[in-house]
Amino acid sequence: MTAATVAGTRTPVAPAWLRDISASLPVTAQYVLHGSIRDLHMCPVGERVVPLDTVSALTGTLAAEGFGAVLYHSPVHGLTVLGGGTAAGSEAGDLARAVLGPHAGLLGTAVGYPRLGDVLLAVGSTTQARVALVLDYLSQALADDELAPGLSTFFLTAVSHVHSARARVRPGTGGGAERGALHNPVLVLVDKPSDLPSWMVGGDGIRQVPLPVPDLGSRMAAARALLPGGGDAVTQFADAAEGLSLRAMRDIVQLQRDTRRDPGQIVESVQAYRTGVRDNPWNGAELRARVAHGRDALSARVLGQSRAVAHTMDILARTATGMTAAHLPQRGSGPRGVLFFAGPTGTGKTELAKAVSQLVFGGDAGGSGSFRRFDMSEFAAEHTEARLIGAPPGYTGHSAGGELTNAVRQNPYSLLLFDEIEKAHPLILDKFLQILSDGRLTDGTGATVHFAETLIVFTSNLGVGGVEPDDPEIQTKVRAEIVGHFRDVIRRPEILGRIGEENIVVFDYLSRDVARGLALRYLENVKGRVRAEHASTLRIGPRAVEQLLELAVEGRLLGGRGVADAVVVNLVNPLAEVLLERGSRDVTVTALGSETDGVRTLELA
Ligand SMILES: Nc1ncnc2c1ncn2[C@@H]1O[C@H](COP(=O)(O)OP(=O)(O)OP(=O)(O)O)[C@@H](O)[C@H]1O
Ligand SMILES: [Mg+2]
Repeated sequence: MTAATVAGTRTPVAPAWLRDISASLPVTAQYVLHGSIRDLHMCPVGERVVPLDTVSALTGTLAAEGFGAVLYHSPVHGLTVLGGGTAAGSEAGDLARAVLGPHAGLLGTAVGYPRLGDVLLAVGSTTQARVALVLDYLSQALADDELAPGLSTFFLTAVSHVHSARARVRPGTGGGAERGALHNPVLVLVDKPSDLPSWMVGGDGIRQVPLPVPDLGSRMAAARALLPGGGDAVTQFADAAEGLSLRAMRDIVQLQRDTRRDPGQIVESVQAYRTGVRDNPWNGAELRARVAHGRDALSARVLGQSRAVAHTMDILARTATGMTAAHLPQRGSGPRGVLFFAGPTGTGKTELAKAVSQLVFGGDAGGSGSFRRFDMSEFAAEHTEARLIGAPPGYTGHSAGGELTNAVRQNPYSLLLFDEIEKAHPLILDKFLQILSDGRLTDGTGATVHFAETLIVFTSNLGVGGVEPDDPEIQTKVRAEIVGHFRDVIRRPEILGRIGEENIVVFDYLSRDVARGLALRYLENVKGRVRAEHASTLRIGPRAVEQLLELAVEGRLLGGRGVADAVVVNLVNPLAEVLLERGSRDVTVTALGSETDGVRTLELA
């Protein structure tokens, strides 16, 4: 589909698929066009190259081969005449009526598929005039029972016609006179060949013509035609539009004019188009204000990690103001922001990721679509790639798509948390590399998903093994281990390069004070639950509190989970026994009692 220029000359040529149709007209009676059939195609018209839709491009090409009329049918438009003018009384109309003979009354009406068989035979068997028949929206008709009646009869007519058809329309006068006998072809437009019955697609004499996604050459041609100013913007536009249709490129230029962006901002317009015309929360004053005052919200939720919180806030400030990698000439195409949370288990990494999601996107980071967590230990095997990005065609689950690609498509403004990244299979690491450098992934169905507005958080326990709790060197040691892991262990330094060493945020072990603070918080929660479930008051005397806090401090090496376990084992479990035995009454715990086989007793007042 490249409106390429023939080497050495400046003569533009039609896209390859159109040239293929022209060249095969002497031997082909039926074409199945599929792929980018709703896209535009850069076609030479006179001196210029202009974007045309598929049917216009076809009509132009056929006209150049001496076709006087193109009959076009769609379930919506019915049967109409294109080429040489569609108005009644025009030459094309007269020609079509002559060819259709007794069926001419069908023109301008919604024609059922059985009657369309008559049209097909009339077009295919005339020796008097070059006329083609284009059938559009067949995929939709086939998917819709209401539209489908008679369609299989029609296909049988079509196929039997192909088998008996010989090229017999001799050149007339005018265009295409230099060619010999040509078929009067039927051209069928479908989204994908599998939408048609297989016997309709595969047979001899039926030619499949794939319309490809625009390559760089077509995008350059489109960019040149769409941006009259030319200059650097043309190349930038063609590059940035990778994976997009030419129709999308045209829409982007429209969007750019409507929003009065200047031509130099074409890459921004492409980004805006890719993520849709939803409100981009990143550009909202609301988000910026929340991030500006975010430190308190994060510190209140994640205790004792002031270094990690401060570092995270720095990165978020850059992200929220669009200043990520601001020293580079252009905004990169990677995600909005990347954070790499490292450090001991249970110290608040996942918790901080949730808090950040809530701060930036709102919601409760629970059911809300803007927070998605992926446990990379579940993606340690090669085949799990399919779970993430969807299975390729022909495999089960293909139509379901991938968990990650679906999530981002549904909500391009979201925080993606990839826990324990070091456990992911190398193939999956490659996907991350692609997300981080290009900001996009192709899913199993071939559709591109864009990550440009996501915030990505990786977590890892790498490098914690060799660090004692309360080691003042924890920051530098963990950092060095992570660098070593990517460089020497898995030998993928480029992945860390894309993440950015400056985005590594190292969490500290929970200090004694933090463990106590966290335990106090849990005790309050337990009291609240007793009040809510039993309409009773739980009191915990000072001696009991002190004992519980000491046990929490012992548990802190397992992080917040260790602290929580200490509270559950030493307070919640025995308390539940008490509530069972005594019913819903006020309880006062004065001290912790004995412990046998992990079962604690309570001393009550
Ligand atoms: N610094 C902290 N402040 C408040 N709560 C914390 C903190 N650290 C851990 N917790 C609590 O402990 C539990 C485990 O924490 P979290 O899931 O954030 O750990 P993590 O660092 O992600 O650990 P892992 O490396 O094992 O995934 C959570 O319930 C969390 O609320
Ligand atoms: Mg975690």
